[in-house]
Amino acid sequence: MPVQTAIWSRQARRLLYACQDRYGDIFMLKVLRETWAVLADPEHVKQVFTGDPSVFHAGEGNELLEPLLGPHSLLTLDEKPHMSQRRLLLPPFHGERMQAYEAIMAEIAAREIKSWPSGEPYALRPRMQALTLEIILRTVFGVREGEGLGELRDALRRYLELLTDPRQLLPVVAIGPQRIRRLPWFRRAMDRVDELIYAEIAARRDATDLERRDDILSMLIAARHEDGSPMRDAEMRDELLTLLAAGHETTATSLSWAVERLCRHPEKLARLRAEAEAGEEDTYLTATIQETLRLRPVISIVLRRLTEPVEVGGYELPAGISVAPSIYLVHRNPEVYPDPEAFKPERFLDNPPGTYTWIPFGGGVRRCLGASFAQFEMAVVLRELVKQRGIRPANPKPERVFRRAITETPRHNARVVLS
Ligand code: HEM
Repeated sequence: MPVQTAIWSRQARRLLYACQDRYGDIFMLKVLRETWAVLADPEHVKQVFTGDPSVFHAGEGNELLEPLLGPHSLLTLDEKPHMSQRRLLLPPFHGERMQAYEAIMAEIAAREIKSWPSGEPYALRPRMQALTLEIILRTVFGVREGEGLGELRDALRRYLELLTDPRQLLPVVAIGPQRIRRLPWFRRAMDRVDELIYAEIAARRDATDLERRDDILSMLIAARHEDGSPMRDAEMRDELLTLLAAGHETTATSLSWAVERLCRHPEKLARLRAEAEAGEEDTYLTATIQETLRLRPVISIVLRRLTEPVEVGGYELPAGISVAPSIYLVHRNPEVYPDPEAFKPERFLDNPPGTYTWIPFGGGVRRCLGASFAQFEMAVVLRELVKQRGIRPANPKPERVFRRAITETPRHNARVVLS
C-alpha cells in the first residue's frame, strides 16, 4: 500500500497504464487509507455517473477539504443537502448566462495579456492564475475596482496557496481535517478570509442595485431554498470559497496546457489565429479546448464512495471502497481516440465529445458546475492571446505532466516566449 501511494503521488500515469495492461479495465489501487476500483470502460463510467447518488457518494471522498471549504460546500455534501445546494447554484452557471460575462472576461484578458513581457522566457501558469483569479473576483464575487478588491485579492491568494501548494496541503492531510482547525497559523489565514467575505456578503445584502447586477454572489442573495428561505451567510461563504477553489487553478492550468500544446504545433496555432482574426465562428477554438482537456485533463480521476455493495463489470465491489472513473484512461482509449497521445483538435471537428468518453468535468449529478463557465473563459482568453501575441516555447522539449496538490500541471509551468 505505501508503495502504491508513493507511485500514485509521483507517477500516477505510469501506474494507471501498467495496471490497465496487466489487469484490464477494472483494477484495485490502495492509496493512503483508501481502496479505489479504477474504471476505464465508458460503460462502467456510465453506470457510476447515472447511478443512485445515495449509493455513490462523492462528497464523502472530499472530507479532507472541509476545514478549507466549510460544512455547506457543494464539494463535501452528499444526497439531499448536496442537491439542495446544487439547485441554488445551477441557474447562475447555466450555459446561456455565460454571455453576460463575455465583456468583462474579455476586458480582463486583454488588459492582463497586454502586461505580459515580450522577448524573454517565463512561466505562463502564474500569469494565468492571476488572470483567472481576477475573472472570478469580478464575475463570481462581483467585486468592482476600488471596492476593497486589493485586500480581498491578497487574502484569497494566501488562502489558495493552502489548497494548491503541495507543501501546504500536506499538513492538512497528515494532521486530519478536525485537528488542523485548532492550529493558530491555519486559523489566522481562515479568519482573515472569513472577515472579508462576510463583509462582502453584508454589503451586497444592502446593495440597492441588486437586480441590475449579474455577478454570482448577487444571484445567490436573490436565490431561495425550496421552502422559500434565503441562503444563510455561512452557506454563501462556503459556496463562494468552493467556486474559487474549484474554478481558479483548474482553469488556469487548462489554459496553460492549451498554450503548451499549441506552441509545439505551430500549424495548429496558425489555424487558430487565422480563425480568431477573421472573427469567424469558434469551431477550431472549441475543438482545441476539447482536445486540450482530453489529452491533458487537469484532474485525472473522480471518486464515488460506495454506501452499499455494487456490481460493476462482473465484480462485486464492497461498501466503503470508492469507484474511480479514470479520466486519464478513458481519454486514451485508442478505439475512441486513434493515436491517443497525439494533440489533434481536428478529431473533434466532426465528432462532438461523448458524454462517457470525454469526461474532463466528471459526470452525472456531480458534473462540474463550472464546465460551461470554464470553457467559455478558456475561449475568451485564448482568442485574445493568439490575436495579440506571437507564442513560442522557451524550451524545445514538451513539458511533462507534474502533479501539484490536486491538479496536474505542465512540469515547468508552461514556459514560453511571447512576441
Ligand atoms: C477547466 C476547468 C475545470 C475543470 C477541468 C474542472 C473539473 C471538475 C471535476 C473533474 C469535478 C468533479 C466532477 C465529478 O465528481 O464528477 C468538478 C466539480 C466541480 N467544479 Fe469544476 N472544473 C473546472 C472549472 C470549474 C469552474 C470555473 C468552476 C466554478 C467557477 C467549477 C466549479 C465546480 C464545482 C462547484 C464542482 C462540484 C460539483 C458538485 O459536486 O456538485 N469548476 N470540476
